[in-house]
Parts: sequence; structure tokens; C-alpha cells
Amino acid sequence: MIGNLNHVAIVVPDLTSASRLYREAFGADVSPPVDLAEHGVTIVFVQLCNTKIELLHPLGENSPIQRFLDNNPDGGMHHLCYEVEEIGFAIQKLTEHGLRVLGDGTPKIGAHGKPVVFLHPKDGIGTLIELEQV
Ligand code: CO
Repeated sequence: MIGNLNHVAIVVPDLTSASRLYREAFGADVSPPVDLAEHGVTIVFVQLCNTKIELLHPLGENSPIQRFLDNNPDGGMHHLCYEVEEIGFAIQKLTEHGLRVLGDGTPKIGAHGKPVVFLHPKDGIGTLIELEQV
């Protein structure tokens, strides 16, 4: 049911040094920072051949990733995003298997302008999983 790995998201304490790491040491194609105020994050996109890495930094007072950074001051891997063709079908199938969708259980428009949901990390082997309809 799941398709490609759309991105791996890493929360970083310093976007400038994280961008430099990926651009200069890893030699990757790194975007300028993009502020997504409605999501409470600033994102730098690292484009790889087969997927993306998203470097996330909190933006504003109520950022959903501030607590993660407080708990992980060096930063760390935050979530994986898998692509799905039909997010409603995916939610139905996964809830049948006992997985919990975070929030009110309905898709929201994510950082790429497409419907997304997040699954409870306790149901995903300790990994926060985002599903994005492509
Ligand atoms: Co994501």
C-alpha cells in the first residue's frame, strides 16, 4: 500500500550549520530556508536522487517541534513520510490494524500542500510516521 519514501525529517538546533553540513560535507543539493508560518517550522529541503531530507527548525511561539528540540537539544530524526495514493483508504486499512492516527484522525494539508496524517509513534515501532497523499 505505501509507495515511495517521500522524506525523512530531522529537527535541527541550527539551520545554518545543518545546511552547511549537507551542502559542504555531504555535497548535497540544499535549498534556502523556507518559512512555513502556518506549520510553525522553517524547512530546508535536501534533494537526494531517490528522496528528500527535510531539516526542520521551530518557527514562532507554538511550534509543534519545539518540545522535540527541548528534549533533544542536539536535534535528531523526527519522522518518516511515506507516500500513499488514497489517504482515506490508507487510514481505514491502518486503523483496522490497530494503528492510531494523531489529532482528530482526519487528513490536514501538510507542508507540501497535500493531505497528510501522522500515526502514533507507539504504533510505528517508536517512529513517528507521516502519510502523504500524492
Ligand atoms: Co514531513
